[in-house]
Amino acid sequence: MEYREFHIDNIRSDFPVLNRKNRGKPLVFLDNAATSQKPTCVIDAISGYYSTSNSNVHRGIYELAEDSENLYHEARRVISEKFNATEKQTLFVRGATEGLNLIAQSYGPLVLGQGDEMILSEMEHHANIVPWQMICHRVGARILVCPTLSDGSLDQKWLFDNLNRKSVKLIAITAVSNTLGTVNPIEKIVSEARRSGVKTVIDGAQCVPHQKFDFQKVDCDFFTFSGHKIYGPMGIGVVLGKTEALEKMPPYQGGGDMIDEVSFEGTTYAPAPQKFEAGTPNVAGAIGLAKAVEYLDQFDIQDIVKHESKLLEIASHGLSEIDGFKEHGITTGKAAVFSFTIDGVHSLDLATFLDAQGIAIRTGHHCCQPLMKSLGVSATARASFALYNTQEEASQFVVAVRKAVDILR
Ligand code: ALA
Repeated sequence: MEYREFHIDNIRSDFPVLNRKNRGKPLVFLDNAATSQKPTCVIDAISGYYSTSNSNVHRGIYELAEDSENLYHEARRVISEKFNATEKQTLFVRGATEGLNLIAQSYGPLVLGQGDEMILSEMEHHANIVPWQMICHRVGARILVCPTLSDGSLDQKWLFDNLNRKSVKLIAITAVSNTLGTVNPIEKIVSEARRSGVKTVIDGAQCVPHQKFDFQKVDCDFFTFSGHKIYGPMGIGVVLGKTEALEKMPPYQGGGDMIDEVSFEGTTYAPAPQKFEAGTPNVAGAIGLAKAVEYLDQFDIQDIVKHESKLLEIASHGLSEIDGFKEHGITTGKAAVFSFTIDGVHSLDLATFLDAQGIAIRTGHHCCQPLMKSLGVSATARASFALYNTQEEASQFVVAVRKAVDILR
């Protein structure tokens, strides 16, 4: 892939939605941790697929079906190569939420039984809490929760002490917090877990737009992410799983395309990845996601990180002197997620005020109610940056928040 210099104006012109208005003002989209916008190449790949190649896969013998199937397989190849996994280790799912449900339902009972324990962290998204609660309830296992320290980092002492407990069999943890921006030391956690024989599941939903991830190098048992946060389409995501685990796991859903042979006496299953992809797959989604991965790969990830960190800095410095302002998550090297509260200003009122200025941020618990409880707040306002956001937008955000405070307080 040819290297592309990081020029913000060129990058912005790749994203057509950035030209629209929001409440009559130029759109300033700062809700990228919820979903990112899509470049033209991704939109064209999806539309091109439906215009020229649409057909079901693994079923037809005609040329159109063959084209569709080749594109689907090529998408899997591109994505597996990007994350340094094999194609057989790369499963398509609807997103990280389905990925975590698949892992919990299918892999969970293979490693968790009555009286066993697993570790989650306090900063997990509900998608990496609830599926584990469901499975632990079913098998009689218990969840231990790793606390978050006041700067938004993991309590590593607690974590490494508890990873050694004999009863702990699995840890499921996010690589990057969607609320605090904290980048967790995943390689260290996986290597410590491995030494204690603890299996590792990494929620990569928020890390993929900001970090490179190498599945073989990190050596976790599972990694999952959503396409739509990495400039790809909604409704498609990926699970990367170790071969030995995928071979042992029962299917997550039954249906067409995941079988070897079906009879009323019993059914045998296809090997991974087909075993986990029942029914007609999201072929256009997979193609769009592969295109998004190629789009991102043109850039040096360090250029993106540097750019996004500057935006964070503008936001953080610009608001820090407001009386009653608190930034939640202040670890060095955090991802471009900026959560904050301001005493006397409800985050919902703030977001409504910003919306009227064309600025889109998220407000609420960010699907992290346990984290909110530990922060002692019911909600935060969150601006999250992407590679197409400009320094002018970050400054505009600061000015608008300051204005909102003057008016609302
Ligand atoms: N998980 C997404 C977020 O953090 C939706 O906003």
